Amino acid sequence: MARFTLPRDLYHGKGSLEALKQFEGKRAMICVGGGSMRRFGFLDRAVSYLEEAGMEVKLYEGIEPDPSVETVMKGAAAMLEFEPDWIIAMGGGSPIDAAKAMWIKYEYPETTFEDMCKVFGLPKLRRKAHFCAISSTSGTATEVTAFSIITDYQKGIKYPIADFEITPDVAIVDPDLAETMPKKLVAHTGMDAMTHSVEAFVSTANCDYTDALALYAIRMIQKDLVDSYNGDMEKRDSMHNAQCLAGMSFSNALLGIVHSMAHKTGAVFADHGAHIIHGAANAMYLPKVIAFNAKDETAAKRYGEIADYMGLDGATTEEKIHSLIAYLRGMNDALNIPHCIAHYGADSLPAEQGFVPESVFLERLPEIAKNAIADACTGSNPRQPSQEEMEKLLKCCYYDTEVDF
Ligand SMILES: NC(=O)c1ccc[n+]([C@@H]2O[C@H](COP(=O)([O-])OP(=O)(O)OC[C@H]3O[C@@H](n4cnc5c(N)ncnc54)[C@H](O)[C@@H]3O)[C@@H](O)[C@H]2O)c1
Ligand SMILES: [Zn+2]
Repeated sequence: MARFTLPRDLYHGKGSLEALKQFEGKRAMICVGGGSMRRFGFLDRAVSYLEEAGMEVKLYEGIEPDPSVETVMKGAAAMLEFEPDWIIAMGGGSPIDAAKAMWIKYEYPETTFEDMCKVFGLPKLRRKAHFCAISSTSGTATEVTAFSIITDYQKGIKYPIADFEITPDVAIVDPDLAETMPKKLVAHTGMDAMTHSVEAFVSTANCDYTDALALYAIRMIQKDLVDSYNGDMEKRDSMHNAQCLAGMSFSNALLGIVHSMAHKTGAVFADHGAHIIHGAANAMYLPKVIAFNAKDETAAKRYGEIADYMGLDGATTEEKIHSLIAYLRGMNDALNIPHCIAHYGADSLPAEQGFVPESVFLERLPEIAKNAIADACTGSNPRQPSQEEMEKLLKCCYYDTEVDF
């Protein structure tokens, strides 16, 4: 038996933020990030809609990008004090993910972060509050997913919390919020969404329901992302739906080792001055992982299907996979994303000398590879890498060398 879970309600289209006016409850806590939602007026609008619905509203502001365990614990304490019956998380993946984890701790104050990370091991939520997610970036699709990614900065590791209990009750996918994204964010979150759909399609947990969503999302992203990046607002709006479809797919089909590697490399070089931003990491690693996974016959056929669906050239499966890899690398070029860690600058743009020194990378490689294999996303990858293979794969992602094993 397989399970397919989505939010009970999804409001979409321009102006759908107004759906908040219809919410029923007593107290709503709105969780937001560093200020973009306030700056562009969306936060004030959300507050006034909820007040119009007769609710007392409290804000929890300042959730940082790539939120920490400490932020989750602080937010949960604020919830325990205010006792909301609605948690409204608004912004990019970071504040929404943090709010999901706060929600768990709010419902079960005794829970530790370790307890939360037991895959599909959460107790029943919704005894105290329901959860609405309003996304302002077009990538993570956390507004519809069963995941939350929290960073343990002491270990420099991102941990996915995974359980259908944290799939939001309501998602609001209003493209107005995505229109204010700066270009770099469009590029990174868009390639994150592309990675979600490709990984979901080849995941060992794929099914007819997730395949339909993944393929359609891939084609939309192929058509819309680069134009959206270059300022076409109709395509920007369309990308907001595309990433959400990708999310519906991967929330149920799960992901693969592109994400395992992104989670374990994202924060681990922070002491050298930067993060490898999630979407950029995915964009760099995806072509390498396709080449690695394609040694598995079923995965190879599926990549071929993706290439066909995208209308790419190739008579044989091998040629199709080659075209797919070339196409994705071309997207990275069009979006100004580097091809490998060695050329990943501290500002995330391509650089002659990246911010991660070779010696540091090589020294940390065994540990990173070990952690990536242990990541929750590895289990559904079509090919299970050994420690040696994962190290080789990560080296290809560092140097941009060919994957031939
Ligand atoms: N839960 C999931 O299923 C899932 C999936 C993939 C990634 N993630 C996680 O999500 C996080 C990344 O989220 P993200 O890529 O959405 O970015 P983010 O939430 O970290 O935001 C990045 C920056 O963009 C700003 N911003 C957000 N929306 C904006 C807008 N509309 N206009 C202007 N500025 C805006 C924010 O203030 C912030 O400074 C990572 O921690 C990643 O690991 C989660
Ligand atoms: Zn992702």
